[in-house]
Amino acid sequence: MRKKISRRTVIQSGSALSLATLWPFGVRADISGLPRSDYGFATTAEEVVADIDLSGKTVLVTGCNSGLGYESMRVMAARGAHVIGTARTIEKAEKACASVTGKTTPLVCELTDLDNIVACSQQVQALDLPIDIFLCNAGIMALPKLEQVNGIEKQFFVNHLGHYLLTRRLLPQVEAAPAGRIVVLSSIGYRNAPKAGIEFDNLSGENDYSPFRSYGQSKLANALFSRELARRYADTGVTSNSVHPGYVATNLGRYVTGKPRDPNEPLRKGFKTVDQGAATQVYVATDSRLADVSGHYFEDCNPVEPGGPHMHDDALALKLWQVSEELTAAYL
Ligand SMILES: NC(=O)c1ccc[n+]([C@@H]2O[C@H](COP(=O)([O-])OP(=O)(O)OC[C@H]3O[C@@H](n4cnc5c(N)ncnc54)[C@H](OP(=O)(O)O)[C@@H]3O)[C@@H](O)[C@H]2O)c1
Repeated sequence: MRKKISRRTVIQSGSALSLATLWPFGVRADISGLPRSDYGFATTAEEVVADIDLSGKTVLVTGCNSGLGYESMRVMAARGAHVIGTARTIEKAEKACASVTGKTTPLVCELTDLDNIVACSQQVQALDLPIDIFLCNAGIMALPKLEQVNGIEKQFFVNHLGHYLLTRRLLPQVEAAPAGRIVVLSSIGYRNAPKAGIEFDNLSGENDYSPFRSYGQSKLANALFSRELARRYADTGVTSNSVHPGYVATNLGRYVTGKPRDPNEPLRKGFKTVDQGAATQVYVATDSRLADVSGHYFEDCNPVEPGGPHMHDDALALKLWQVSEELTAAYL
């Protein structure tokens, strides 16, 4: 069995959960022993995979038609991976897949529609391929007014719950790969999550809605989901990590500006271009140094110890898993 460099490795006794009962905020990840890269803020995804041969690997990317998902698909397909690219409509998925060099399979995955997620997972299963890299990438940010899906606030639903269901349904395919990697797009926006972290008594958003607080909650959920996956699959070949790509000039801001990003708009200070923004997720998905690294959070192609009380909260991560399981039980 492979030994993973994860927080479990640095915890000398007991499980993370039992220690979490001693310290209510869980166990901080010790990142000091983790491999570091020379990559940084300006590294591009293409640079990250320049010397990596992905022939024979299967990658699944949600949100393949735009921004970071498109660039991730593009560079990994160019290095020989077979990329299953999902988008909200088959037209978008086909157009994106057809525009990159390499082997791709377009599929529909509308993350607001649990039946559609099931159908997508069945189509992936029908391909009968192990999934080496599973990139939970699609997302929305800062809807100005409360919107709900099945009574749940929409950002939590799309960003977390839809990916939770898709991932759970396809975990056997990830486990079937020799060393399946799950990479979940979180965000430094986790810092804007509510004081409680995840407001389980307000998943509808009806008690109190704020566009960026709800986005923060969903991105905290992404990181905690990845952390809990790492804990649950620590004794398998599967790893799971989460990333913040940086502030990247994509369409993500469409709900803030009311329109897609103008490609001619100058890059704002502190922002990355899309090819730079995709570097961290592609690095975590492909770099051989991270083969055994699981349960961590990355920025600028390196592990980072996230701040605040919630990103290490294993009890919260477990509760999120259980509540998500209840909310999707009929579809699992
Ligand atoms: N850009 C940043 O600064 C930044 C920072 C931190 C984290 N992130 C994270 O990075 C990820 C990628 O974002 P991006 O910047 O590349 O944004 P983007 O260009 O807007 O791409 C988002 C993707 O998600 C898809 N999507 C939206 N709603 C969906 C739904 N209901 N079902 C399925 N797919 C859906 C979009 O499809 P449509 O095009 O059809 O809407 C699009 O393909 C997100 O998870 C985001 O939270 C981005």
